[in-house]
Amino acid sequence: MEVFRARDVLELPSSTLRLRGRGSRNRRPHRTLSRASIVLVSRPEIQGQKESDIMDSLEGKRVLVTGGNRGLGLGIVEALVAKKARVTALARDADKLMEVKRRLGVGVLVGDITDQAIAAGALREVRPDVLILNAGTTPAMGPIHELDWDAFSKTWNIDVKATLFWIQEALRLPLASGSRVLLGSSGAAIAGSPMSGGHGGAKRMIMFMANYANVVSNELGRGIRFQTLVPRQMIGETDHGRACAGYYADRKGVSLETFLQNFGKPMSPREYGEYVVTILTDPKFDSTTTFAIKGDTGIVPFDGSQS
Ligand SMILES: NC(=O)c1ccc[n+]([C@@H]2O[C@H](COP(=O)([O-])OP(=O)(O)OC[C@H]3O[C@@H](n4cnc5c(N)ncnc54)[C@H](OP(=O)(O)O)[C@@H]3O)[C@@H](O)[C@H]2O)c1
Repeated sequence: MEVFRARDVLELPSSTLRLRGRGSRNRRPHRTLSRASIVLVSRPEIQGQKESDIMDSLEGKRVLVTGGNRGLGLGIVEALVAKKARVTALARDADKLMEVKRRLGVGVLVGDITDQAIAAGALREVRPDVLILNAGTTPAMGPIHELDWDAFSKTWNIDVKATLFWIQEALRLPLASGSRVLLGSSGAAIAGSPMSGGHGGAKRMIMFMANYANVVSNELGRGIRFQTLVPRQMIGETDHGRACAGYYADRKGVSLETFLQNFGKPMSPREYGEYVVTILTDPKFDSTTTFAIKGDTGIVPFDGSQS
């Protein structure tokens, strides 16, 4: 499926590429970004770096991080940049992306993860050695008898849908043999989350999807490894974590800080990013499919039987 034609790629002065999806006729730069129609790309500013074949190093590796403009994704981006990876961050908020670009010199892509054309174009443009599908929605919060179907299924319609499209495009392109795709799940997938409707089930589905994708990758001889990241605590420093933890804290009549203490040692987005770097660089994590990650315990391989 050809999504971005060569004539749709325009070189802009600041080494910024501008790509358009199908059917777009307007070529003026800096038009309002609309879903499914425009992706802005700027490449990472890497000087003096070469592609590296050393598997225990991220130096020079191309890494694409969805949701890399804030929250856990930004922590991952910071940790990867510190390891000299060539990082590209993708999200919808162009201003926040440009802030990250200015501060860290990463490449940026503006787009919605649920648009399959965006997934295809981004993978073709970046050709990541590592793809981190971290972006996700904040679930609608409420008791089960008060959520309508749209609210109940929000995480299915964003996180699961996007995961499906990005897995499909990674296998179809395909990404290079030896590349890794990390899928963003949640502790809600293990223990449930009674006030966020279908969120826990959706995040569990993402764990299954890594397994399904690995089966196909093996059958087709793709050599792409799919693995799942499971943050096993609420992280109050992110918008998502604050919204969910704040809802539970209000229901219990305690402060956000008191509620978050239930999870033990806090884990900052940057610490989470360091754990992700360890998963990518420590050979002992090469073949595990699912990783539970927590401030108290660090990285714990998850085989589906723990609760
Ligand atoms: N924080 C926690 O306590 C916690 C715990 C367990 C698991 N998680 C998981 O960790 C991941 C990151 O969570 P977070 O706490 O960092 O959330 P966050 O602070 O709300 O950040 C979400 C990120 O995803 C991006 N995003 C959301 N919807 C998008 C879309 N449709 N297209 C493109 N980008 C989109 C956002 O950027 P734009 O808005 O600019 O697009 C933002 O960068 C999620 O998958 C979440 O389920 C979080």
